[in-house]
Amino acid sequence: MPAPILRPADLFAAADRLPRVRLAHLPTPLEEAPRFAERIGGGVRVFVKRDDCTGLLLGGNKARHNEFLLGDAVDQRCDLVVWGAGVQSNNCRQTAAGCAKLGLECRLYLSRGHYSTEPQGNLLLDYLVGAHVEFTDAAIGPELDALLAAKADGFRRAGRRPYVWHRPRVVPLAAVSYVVCVAEIVGQLAALGLAPSALYVSSSGATGAGVTLGKAVLGLECPARLTCPMSWPWPIPEAVAADANAAAGLLELPHRLAAADIDADEGYIAPGYGKSSPAGREALHLLATTEAILLDPVYSAKAMAALIADVRAGRYAPGSALVFVHTGGVPAIFTDPAEVLPEGL
Ligand SMILES: Cc1ncc(COP(=O)(O)O)c(C=O)c1O
Repeated sequence: MPAPILRPADLFAAADRLPRVRLAHLPTPLEEAPRFAERIGGGVRVFVKRDDCTGLLLGGNKARHNEFLLGDAVDQRCDLVVWGAGVQSNNCRQTAAGCAKLGLECRLYLSRGHYSTEPQGNLLLDYLVGAHVEFTDAAIGPELDALLAAKADGFRRAGRRPYVWHRPRVVPLAAVSYVVCVAEIVGQLAALGLAPSALYVSSSGATGAGVTLGKAVLGLECPARLTCPMSWPWPIPEAVAADANAAAGLLELPHRLAAADIDADEGYIAPGYGKSSPAGREALHLLATTEAILLDPVYSAKAMAALIADVRAGRYAPGSALVFVHTGGVPAIFTDPAEVLPEGL
């Protein structure tokens, strides 16, 4: 028997049965971008799901994630959070913000990579909300994950109760929050008498797992196009499907995805994670100058570049409603103006 198609209200209720803290401004607006749509051509309609406006210290997808992650931490009576990613991590910035709001100590271990450790952009915000920051040369991925586990062990031995970034636990919980986001989108479009012809989002992880699962559970026939900001040392479709399935388990849903259900495009990463691309800069300037909506060069601009390329390739019929899930990341534009300014400025 095929898994049932659920209504948005069913998904809101299923998510509310999990431990959750309210941190994000929800629902975020779904804003049409008509001047932008006209410029990219093809007669399509573009709707921006404004998850850059989730609040929690300048918005982004991690405000939604943290409702369930920090909900889990509070549920487990943890007294500090051990987290890590790159120096300019949006994830760490919004986790630090959630910790400040909930009165949890926040320990961040930030991988230097190619970044300056000058306090600016996301890093400046980490300091402002009182996170304890340490820099490391451990690479993002398995090496940094192992360092975080070791740090958490040290805190445990000292009698503390750390909540630690542990991929198998936190990614499915974070994905749940993007099932909720798709339920919001479906309701918002239905109020306009529309259904989405495609969903676009920057992700090679939790956000994409949630969006793809949400699409399946709500019975949307459209593609959910994940533009990967980075590659991992594991195959992304398999990992995203596994995380989506774990999220379905948390929501007590019978739906299951296979790797073939994951539409993840690793073709927009160049010139590398954390660096802007010409197509991303074009997308950033086009959306800023037509709609006054800012994208970030690392994540959302590359995902919007994918949407633009697909429209220009004639992939969608005129009148199609394309939804771009804006995952935030805007503090990054203040770290290196040369990465975002148009030529000649
Ligand atoms: C602005 C922004 N967009 C997208 C993503 C990707 O999210 P996920 O890790 O859920 O794939 C991130 C991750 O840090 C992000 O900061």
